[in-house]
Amino acid sequence: MTIWVPTLDPTMPRYRALADAIRLDIVSGQLQAGTRLPPQRRLADALGVTVGTVTRGYAEAERHGLVTARIGSGTYINGGISAQRVSTESFGHVFCAGAATGMFADVKGAIEASLDTIDLTMSLPPPHPARQQGMADALTSISQSQEALLHCVDYQNAFGRDSQRRLLANWMGELGMPVAAEELMLTQGGQNGITLALSALLAPGEALVAGALTYPGLISASTERGLKLLRVPLDEEGMDIEALARLCRQQVPRMVYVMAEQNNPGGAQLSHARREALVALARQYDFWILEDGVQYLPPEECGTQLYQLAPERTLYVFSTSKILAGGLRLGVLRIPPALLPRLGATLRSHSWMVAPLLVETVCAWLTSGNAAPLITWQVEEVRARQRLARSVLDEWSLSSRPSSFDLWLALPEGQRSQAMVESLAARGVHVTSAEPFCVGNEPPPQALRLCLSAAASREALANALEIVREVLLTPPALRCMTL
Ligand SMILES: Cc1ncc(COP(=O)(O)O)c(C=O)c1O
Repeated sequence: MTIWVPTLDPTMPRYRALADAIRLDIVSGQLQAGTRLPPQRRLADALGVTVGTVTRGYAEAERHGLVTARIGSGTYINGGISAQRVSTESFGHVFCAGAATGMFADVKGAIEASLDTIDLTMSLPPPHPARQQGMADALTSISQSQEALLHCVDYQNAFGRDSQRRLLANWMGELGMPVAAEELMLTQGGQNGITLALSALLAPGEALVAGALTYPGLISASTERGLKLLRVPLDEEGMDIEALARLCRQQVPRMVYVMAEQNNPGGAQLSHARREALVALARQYDFWILEDGVQYLPPEECGTQLYQLAPERTLYVFSTSKILAGGLRLGVLRIPPALLPRLGATLRSHSWMVAPLLVETVCAWLTSGNAAPLITWQVEEVRARQRLARSVLDEWSLSSRPSSFDLWLALPEGQRSQAMVESLAARGVHVTSAEPFCVGNEPPPQALRLCLSAAASREALANALEIVREVLLTPPALRCMTL
């Protein structure tokens, strides 16, 4: 089948030329309302450009209200576009609110555009109006169900209702995390799952082990509990288990915290051999494993979870924050069932229970069937963002998983992360250095974490990446601090 292949104006950047070609072909009538544009990879091959260029071109056209990207379906020419407006609008600089004028228009994007700043510091799911819509639909369905309303006004069991735990267990199974309802307790987000596990199982002063670079929420929770946080080196296969074995011979930890699928930051995945070695060590020295699966990856990118290899000693932290909405604050903690009374008592002393309204909202959202297409879209979107970033920053040393939210950029010899963070901030792009992730006193590596998913749109991300590239090519001079 032949596809639409435009001629690109050689005087313009290629992505803008593509958006402009869409505009011209709408004006000429060659592209009609409802027409589906070619899949990005096919068009990229036909034009001899990168997929990232086509992605940016489509995003630019969408920003101008010419096309709409539909979840899991493709990019379509919009109807009701005024040929007059389209034919006279310039793609060089004009920002047009475009098609997103509905109730859930892209507010974040508008704010970001008007402030001229792009925040890539927070590990957030990519914005999509379907999140607000999913929340609205769930709340509407609760408000129309006497049973759901009764659940919301009542106190409930600290672990959650059996029917809710079953629904969540089924959903986790579909997402690649096979669990039984009886092993689950509900928490106020993933962070709460971590603090509950630390509070219930470790006494102040006891040793907890984490990778040398780890999730900052683990560092703060361990400091607050008065734990002794020890570090183990990481490499591209994740935590160095031989180093952990050496550490165990000197001091047996009570717990090891690990992000097996993708370390945050850096994205290192624990190899299967290391998972088995870790489990063997845990059995030999009798320590708990706290496995954090909050940063969601689709099953095809995951290995066998540690809780499946060592169900009797692994607690698995999961949350809806990274796939439905961070504001919902619903976490699910998978624990060996024998621990339920202990963890339940800790939860009751912290907050008695998770607010039933939150649990009902998530359950109504899952029952509506609207969560699955959103997650499918999200995975495709973050993959496209990863490809885009890798095409713009291909000269540098990068690491991530294909569906990670984040990209880890190791700076070239002689460049300093703090100076880069400051230079980028001066240009309106906010990123994070390795400092907040560091366990212990060793100096942090010179690297940056870019949360690609946090940008309001692919267009905003593309702009930010161009700035990152420019700053990397002309790094700030190192300051001479002393004689
Ligand atoms: C690895 C990891 N664990 C846990 C959390 C906390 O999750 P939640 O927002 O559900 O509390 C985060 C949040 O960024 C995270 O990155």
